Amino acid sequence: SNPSLLILAGDGIGPEVMAQVSRIIDWYGDKRGMAFDVSEDLVGGAAYDKHGTPLHDDTMAKAQEVDAVLLGAVGGPKYDDLDFSVKPERGLLRLRKEMDLFANLRPAQCFGALADFSSLKREVVEGLDLMIVRELTSGSYFGEPRGIFTENNERVGINTQRYTESEIERVARAAFDLAMKRNRKLCSMEKANVMESGVLWREVVTEVSADYPEVELSHMYADNGAMQLVRAPKQFDVIVTDNLFGDILSDCAAMLTGSLGMLPSASLGAPMANGRPKALYEPVHGSAPDIAGQGKANPCACILSFAMALRYSFDTGAEADRLERAVEKVLADGVRTADLMQKEGGTPVSTTEMGDAVIAALDAS
Ligand code: NAI
Ligand code: MG
Repeated sequence: SNPSLLILAGDGIGPEVMAQVSRIIDWYGDKRGMAFDVSEDLVGGAAYDKHGTPLHDDTMAKAQEVDAVLLGAVGGPKYDDLDFSVKPERGLLRLRKEMDLFANLRPAQCFGALADFSSLKREVVEGLDLMIVRELTSGSYFGEPRGIFTENNERVGINTQRYTESEIERVARAAFDLAMKRNRKLCSMEKANVMESGVLWREVVTEVSADYPEVELSHMYADNGAMQLVRAPKQFDVIVTDNLFGDILSDCAAMLTGSLGMLPSASLGAPMANGRPKALYEPVHGSAPDIAGQGKANPCACILSFAMALRYSFDTGAEADRLERAVEKVLADGVRTADLMQKEGGTPVSTTEMGDAVIAALDAS
C-alpha cells in the first residue's frame, strides 16, 4: 500500500501554504510514481470551531496511524481569549506529547540568493547548512516539581531540569544517526560546568559515541555555543542539545538564514512497526494573522518541511534533494514572495505563483 500522510493545515496562512504542498504531493504522484494516501483533518482554532477542542480524539488516533503528519500552523487573535485548556496550540502540544516526538530537527540552511537577509555578513553565512537536534519532550519545560509556591512568606517559581539516561540516549542516537547521513560531525551542547543534568548529558552522549566511531564528536558549553553560532556558524554540522538550550539556540540559528518564511522543521519519535519513525513536519512560522487571507504568504517553509518528510520518513533523499534544489533555483531566479523582498525592489509573487514556480522547477529537474 502507499505511504500515508495526514495533513492538518490549521489556521491563518496554514491552509494557504499547505495548498501548495498538496500540489507538490500530487506532482510526486503524477511525475515520479510516488503516490501517497493523503487524508486531511482539522487542528487548532479550526478544530475548536467545529468540535470545541483543538484536536479531536479521532484526529489524534489518525495521527498515530499514518506514516507522517504535515501541519500548517495554529492560532490567531480570534482564539486569544480562550481558556488555556482549549487554546489552538494545545492541539499541537497534544500531538507532540502523545506521539512522543522527542527529537526536533531544525535545519538552518542559507540559500545563496537570500544571504543578504541574514543578520550576519554574507561571507559568514553563505553556504551554511547545519542542523540542530533539540530534545523536545523532557528537561526544564516538563520536570517536576514545577509551580509557584510560597516559602518563607514569599512566592517562589520553580522549574526542574531533569533528564533520565534513556531520554538523553535516544535523542543522542537520533543525532548520531543523522550525523552518519550527513558529514559525520556532531557537537553536543550543555552546561556541564554548572549543571548536574549537563554532566550526565555529556557522559551519556560520550557513551553512545562508542557505537558511532566514524562520527567526530565534540562538546561545547551552550553559552559558548551561542557565541560560536553567531561568530562562525559554518564550523557546525549537527548540534544536539536539550529542550531549553535547543529552543534558544535553534531560534538564534534560524535568524542566520533570513526569513521565517523559509524555515522547516521535523519532530521525530520512536520507530513504528514498519520501521518508520513517528513523525510530524511543520514550518517554524505561525499562522501570520497579519497577512492571512491575502495570498501573500511564502509557502517555502511548508514545502521544505515536506522535503524533510521525503528524507526522514520516506527515505528518498534524492527526491528531497530534488525538491530543495527546485526551491533554491526559484530563489536564484529572483522569484520572491513579499517577505523576501528588499525594501527597494521588484514585484512580489503570490503564494500560488510561488507554488507554480517550484512546480515548474520540478518539471525542469
Ligand atoms: P508568526 O510566525 O505567525 O508571524 C510573525 C511574522 O512573520 C508576521 O509578520 C508574519 O506575517 C510573518 N510570517 C510568518 N510566516 C510567514 C510566511 N510563511 N510568509 C510570509 N510572512 C510570514 O508569529 P506570531 O505573529 O508571533 O504569531 C501569530 C499566531 O501564530 C499566534 O496565534 C501564535 O500563537 C501562532 N503561532 C503558531 C505556531 C505554530 O503553529 N507552530 C508557531 C508560532 C506562532
Ligand atoms: Mg522558540
